[in-house]
Amino acid sequence: MGTVAKNKWVKYVFMKKSTALSPYLPETRMMSQQSLWGLLERHRHVMVKPVWGSRGRGVIQVSDLGHDRYAIHYESMKTVIQGRENTYRYIKSKTGSAQYMVQQRIDRPTIHKQPFDLRVIVQRKKNSSRWTVTGKVIKVAGKGYIVSNNTRSSGKLLKFNPGIKSSTISYLPAAALEAEIDKVSLLSVRRLEALFPEHRIYGLDVAADRQGRVSIIEANLFPAMSHFRKLKDEKTYRRILSYKRG
Ligand SMILES: Nc1ncnc2c1ncn2[C@@H]1O[C@H](COP(=O)(O)OP(=O)(O)OP(=O)(O)O)[C@@H](O)[C@H]1O
Ligand SMILES: [Mg+2]
Repeated sequence: MGTVAKNKWVKYVFMKKSTALSPYLPETRMMSQQSLWGLLERHRHVMVKPVWGSRGRGVIQVSDLGHDRYAIHYESMKTVIQGRENTYRYIKSKTGSAQYMVQQRIDRPTIHKQPFDLRVIVQRKKNSSRWTVTGKVIKVAGKGYIVSNNTRSSGKLLKFNPGIKSSTISYLPAAALEAEIDKVSLLSVRRLEALFPEHRIYGLDVAADRQGRVSIIEANLFPAMSHFRKLKDEKTYRRILSYKRG
């Protein structure tokens, strides 16, 4: 199962087939000229990312600036390219022959001008079918980056309530937002249970947009524990470990 578990495209297709979950998944296609220009026309901003990626490696943001100009944001580098042909060639120079997909960008809210999303840990104990949200952390992208991966972007980790309060969506009721995030996270793992019946832990990458609409960016089967260690949230960290043992 090692292979399917890390294949973002297979997991996306499987989740998208759930009518309950589908509205929470950003539109995603395998990368091609056609899918790239199609998604850019519909969404103006897309993320191009490796099917087998991890830790934010190889994630490229492409934006349609109009007048046949495209902005590329890769790692901490930004560049503007004239023309579709040049743009596609430039992206190809970064992606090489690796399998890539293209995904609608979620227009994330910010904290101190930097976009953020969340890592949500969902677990069940051995011999239990009850899923529980055991941890949640806000991941703020480091200055100049689009990916929120803590190590790659030198980003920040924050607890949920103080994070939301210091963000551009502080006007939203945090409790309602949190309940929605939990609901969509639980829907996701219940769906994935059919694909990975023995699995007991997920780390979901969840993003809210500027209106507070929740999306699932992806479901990780082997989530890092380092977020909760770094956050110094002892209580959450211990809870996650006790579910792992239990
Ligand atoms: N569609 C999107 N809209 C907005 N931001 C996105 C989108 N896709 C990815 N990102 C940003 O890029 C990060 C990395 O993307 P993704 O999780 O798909 O790749 P990854 O390499 O598997 O990362 P990880 O190993 O941390 O899970 C996300 O956590 C998020 O910050
Ligand atoms: Mg991820």
